[in-house]
This record gives sequence, structure tokens and C-alpha cells, in this order.
Amino acid sequence: MSDSPKGLTNKLTNYGDKEFSKYLRRSFAKSMGYTNKSLDKPIVGICYSESGFNNCHRNFPEMLDAVKRGVIAEGAIPIHFPVISLGEIFLDPTAMVYRNLMAMCVEEMINAQPMDSVVLMGGCDKTVPALLMGAISANIPSALLVSGPMMTGHHKGERLGACTDCRRFWAKYRSNEIDKEEIDIIEGNLATTAGTCAVMGTASSMAILSEALGIMLPGTSSIPSVHADRLRASEETGALAARMTMNSGPVPKKIITEKAIENALRVLLAISGSTNAIIHLAAIAGRLGIQIDMNQINRLSDETPVLVDLKPVGSGYMEDFYAAGGLDAVLHELKDQIHLDTEDITGQSLKDRLEASSNNYRDFSIIRPKSDPISDVGGLIALHGSLAPEGAILKRAAATESLLEHEGRAVVFSSLEDLAERIDDPDLDVEESDILVLQNAGPSSDSGMPEAGYLPIPKKLAVKGVKDMVRISDARMSGTAFGTIVLHVTPESQRGGPLALVKDGDRIKLSASNKSIDLLISEEELNARRASITIEQNIPSRGYKKLYKTSVLPATEGCDFDFLKEETRG
Ligand code: FES
Repeated sequence: MSDSPKGLTNKLTNYGDKEFSKYLRRSFAKSMGYTNKSLDKPIVGICYSESGFNNCHRNFPEMLDAVKRGVIAEGAIPIHFPVISLGEIFLDPTAMVYRNLMAMCVEEMINAQPMDSVVLMGGCDKTVPALLMGAISANIPSALLVSGPMMTGHHKGERLGACTDCRRFWAKYRSNEIDKEEIDIIEGNLATTAGTCAVMGTASSMAILSEALGIMLPGTSSIPSVHADRLRASEETGALAARMTMNSGPVPKKIITEKAIENALRVLLAISGSTNAIIHLAAIAGRLGIQIDMNQINRLSDETPVLVDLKPVGSGYMEDFYAAGGLDAVLHELKDQIHLDTEDITGQSLKDRLEASSNNYRDFSIIRPKSDPISDVGGLIALHGSLAPEGAILKRAAATESLLEHEGRAVVFSSLEDLAERIDDPDLDVEESDILVLQNAGPSSDSGMPEAGYLPIPKKLAVKGVKDMVRISDARMSGTAFGTIVLHVTPESQRGGPLALVKDGDRIKLSASNKSIDLLISEEELNARRASITIEQNIPSRGYKKLYKTSVLPATEGCDFDFLKEETRG
């Protein structure tokens, strides 16, 4: 970082007279009650994504007070500023569409306002990648602080946590295993505290990966939202950000290196994290000019064991993960496979961090030792083949073992609307061994790549007890969902990928062992179908939606905008 002036005299409003700009700014700052002594100090900006439409950030006011306490204790001035908030469940068509808008907002507001370092406050799924993407591009000293996971609720003697149990009980309700009265009771017990979803979903995965990237205070990614440690972490993050103003660093581009990204990928596989994290990591890497290669994912996946026994794949919740040692415990088990010379925002190397932390006296049932893993291979793999020439993702850890090698007949839904209309039709021609295919739900579709890849089991099969089928789409899946589900098929249907050409009755073959997904029709037939279809693009006439549609990159490039990637910056 350059030796630019510290504090309020940074980034002056331009009136063509620098001294006048300073005088006017100080005058207006004094209207907020700041004294000359305060105005001469460095400034820690606090990028604050609280919103009444975001339940996951409900604990932010208390955390903000603690961050400010830490900043002031270290001799800087904390100034918080709002950015867009993305509450996953409150956005139409999906929070994913707005992740890049938030990232742009973060980058521009950091760049435009006078701050010497910034605390990035987020938590809910898309907010963490948006904060990191924006902060990397702005590249001033930055520290991420997350809201932390929710605590679990209870129902009839079992623990409930959003949102794996949301889906589990909804599936029971659809198959008439529970009635309306019971689902209404469960509705009130799934999300009972502030914080992010209580399982190893996207928010938890992204928080843990951010810590693995080094952009967060070590040990803080999984502290439950309501735990006193969360407030202590907030105060310490504020204090660290204040010290960063004195040192003018480190900046995100120094911390988030190619090695750090590989470490994060390795951790993602070991925690059996969310498929969405692959997209977000690709976008974060893209801001550094780094491309995540699908073959790299498979190489790492084949040599990285799954160590964490958490829902949606296993049995525990994030509160158990924290109690079992959090990321430190995972890193200790992976220390022979990760780059130990990466550094975090405190300036320490991963090697030093692990040497300073104890791996004794911990509960090995939730975070298993490498010698006794949940699985010998990683939770996610990339697939290639005639149905996905540029790749697709399968969370093999969440799949039904017997479906990992499967050939079946395609039952095709051309859109989300078509899916909603026909999936429960008693006359739908569908059998348990069929493969459900959803088209036109990718990044550039009108629905903006929703978490619709977890297609519901057709009701006529669900009531017979069918729990899983192979399902394929260019959509995403919630990190809290499970099943034999092939996602992010690239090229997507809207861009003329082979997925758009699948018809009812076609044979499709999934082979997890070969890492392949193939449409079993001839090249001639595929070309004939390609020549016979026209794909309407439906570009909106104005506004952000127009920008989104004309700029969004494929899932393999993180769905960032083409003009925001590192190599396209001037
Ligand atoms: Fe915010 Fe799940 S809804 S993390």
C-alpha cells in the first residue's frame, strides 16, 4: 500500500482546491461531534451489511459496538458505513444475482471514502464472497468478521438447524409422513437465534474458507453468533484493523495468494462444504487473475479425506464444530497437505499458527483424525463429458452411494415454471430409476442460477418412499441440501450448452468414478438438435438486470462480471 495521508484527509472531495476540501470536510465532520484530536487519527472503516431483510445479521449492532471498542482502544477512529445486504431468503429471484452488485458497492465505497483499513462485516451466504471480491479489488488492509452460525432449536427430542432440517421435514411433509400441524410447529423452531445457517452450508463454508485464506482473525470463523467469544472476536478484529492502519497492511492481494486459494480448496473438500463455495472461490480467485482449474479440484479431492461429521452430510451442527476445535483442528489434520508458508492478516504464517495452537484434548467425533476419516476422498468432484464439456459439480459426499454409477432415462423440465407445474402431476411419466433434468436455470437465465438444483422428488414417487434420484441442472444447490445432484452444468442451457438439447427419454450416464456425465446420443443427432433450436436471450432494457445479463460469466469463472476480473482491469 502507498504512503498516502492517513485519516480524514484521504480521498478528498474535489473542488479544485485541496485545502478548501480539507477545511470543508473537517467542518462537516465536526458537525458529528468529532474533536480535532479525533480527526487527526487514522480511520478504520467498518463495512456494515445490516438490514431488516437479513435475519442472519441480527447480532450486528452488538458486534459493531465491540468492533468500535477495539478500534478506539488501539488509537484509531471507527466509522461504519452501509453497503447492500443480501438476506438469502428475502431476495427475488435469488441473492446470487445481487452478489456482484454488493461486491461493486463494497469496492467503490471503500475506494471513495477516507479510510486506512476496513473491517468487513458479513455472514449470510453471498455477503462473504461479495465482501471479499470487493475488498480484493479495492486492496486496502482488510479484516473480515462474520456473524457466526445460529444455535440449534429442538423438536420432539431432536435438535433442529436451518436449513438441512428445513428440507428434511419439508420432504416428510410432501410424502405425508408428517401433517400440517407438525410442519407449522417445526417452522417456528428451525431458525431460533441470530446468525447464519447452523449446518455446513454456504455461509459456514465461506466463513471457514475465509479463515483458511488468512483474511480473518484466526479461530473466529465458527464461533456461534450468540457466544461471548463472538463479541471478543469483534473487539479483537477492530483492534487488529486499527493496527493495520499504522502498518499500512497487509492488503488482501498479499494474503490471498494462489497457495492460500489451494489451501482453501483443500479445506472445502475436508469439511465437505457447500458446492456454492466452488463458485465463490472461483470469483475470488478471478479478482486476483487466478483461474481455478476443474482438474485441480479433482486432484485435490482424490487425495483429501473428509474429516468433518456435520449436516447436511453427517450428523453434527456448527456449534459442535466450534466446540471440537474449529478450523484449527482441521488444519492440524491436514498439515502435511497444505501450504504452511501462507500468511494471515496478523502477519503469522500457517506454520507458526499451528505450532502455537494445541491439538490436544479435543473431541475427535465431530472433526475426525486423518487416520480415521469419514471418507478417504474429498466431498466434491468436477465432472466432464458430452453433457458438460466445460464441467459440472457433484457433491459425492451428499449422494446416495448406489446412484454414483447410474444410467437412466431423462425426464426433462424446460424451466423452473415447467418444473413447478408438472413435478407433482400424477400423470407425469417418471420412475425411480429416471434422471430428472432441469434446463434454463444457469447464471444467464432469467432466474439467475437459483438454488433449484435440488429438484423435489415427484410426489407420486415420494409417497412411495423414494428419497433420492439423480438430478441434473445448470442451477446451484443450497449448501444445506443433499442428494445425488449434478450442478453448475457448463456451458449452461441459455448459452446453447448440450443441456439445452436433452429430450425426454434420452439416456444419460453418470459415473463418479470416471468423473463423467454423458448424454448418450450420437454427435449427428446432437448437431441436428442444435441446428433446430433458437435460444431467446431476453435482455432487460435497463438497469442492473441488464448489466447482469450482459456481463455475467459462467459458473466455472465464478459468475463474476467480465469487466471486474483482474485481467480486465485497466
Ligand atoms: Fe443466511 Fe442461511 S439464510 S446463512
